[in-house]
Amino acid sequence: MINLIIKNKEDIFNEVANIYVNKVEENDSITLGLATGSTPIPLYDKLVEKYEGGMISFKNVKTFNLDEYCNLDINDKNSYHSFMNKNLFSKIDINTNNTHFPTANSEHVDEYNELLEKTPIDVQLLGLGSNGHIAFNEPGSDFKSVTRIVDLAQKTIDDNSRFFSSIDLVPTQAASMGLSNIMDAKEIILIAIGDAKANIIKEIFANDEVTEDIPATILKNHPNVTFYVDLDAAKLLDEK
Ligand code: F6R
Repeated sequence: MINLIIKNKEDIFNEVANIYVNKVEENDSITLGLATGSTPIPLYDKLVEKYEGGMISFKNVKTFNLDEYCNLDINDKNSYHSFMNKNLFSKIDINTNNTHFPTANSEHVDEYNELLEKTPIDVQLLGLGSNGHIAFNEPGSDFKSVTRIVDLAQKTIDDNSRFFSSIDLVPTQAASMGLSNIMDAKEIILIAIGDAKANIIKEIFANDEVTEDIPATILKNHPNVTFYVDLDAAKLLDEK
């Protein structure tokens, strides 16, 4: 069952940032699963503010990112390494040796699964693709999937083209945690913001169906998952 919280955007980011402060206070060497994309940026901004205000330290925190593009240098401004450095890691006291990304090199991609097995994720943060993907587990992904190289769906390439000067420059493959890695996290927080997510949120909550056609529906089988959905993304839900 998914806990569903519908609030305005500002309240969502305040609430989720406070959750992280409390969790890190309880366990200063917590393992966090992190996401990139537009959705988590306001959360990372708030965590930076809280760090600057002395309310949280990431000194012993370990992080595992969901994904990284293939065929893009990790120093490229659009890589997810660069995204995390720019939006969070360079602004807090995290030890970069404790930050991890899947390697976008097919020969080594399985090392991430081994690492994740040794270091289970306490709290996994997720955004939601407008096609229902979580990480880059596109529609049709096997529920048993683990970290691997995936082909991005055309919808994802189109959605991500806003970050690149031309659609031809958008990577078409990524290394991504699989659905089974995500389901292994002890707790999952998914954030969905804005009109562009309204249709997929409606589809996920339309019935109890769990289907590989909408990868995020697998989360209905997780024991501790909360969706934070803002008023725009929730606008097509009946209960709103
Ligand atoms: C990012 C990721 C993706 C995004 C999703 C939503 O690490 O794994 O699944 O969370 O594509 O992206 P935004 O937040 O840009 O709408």
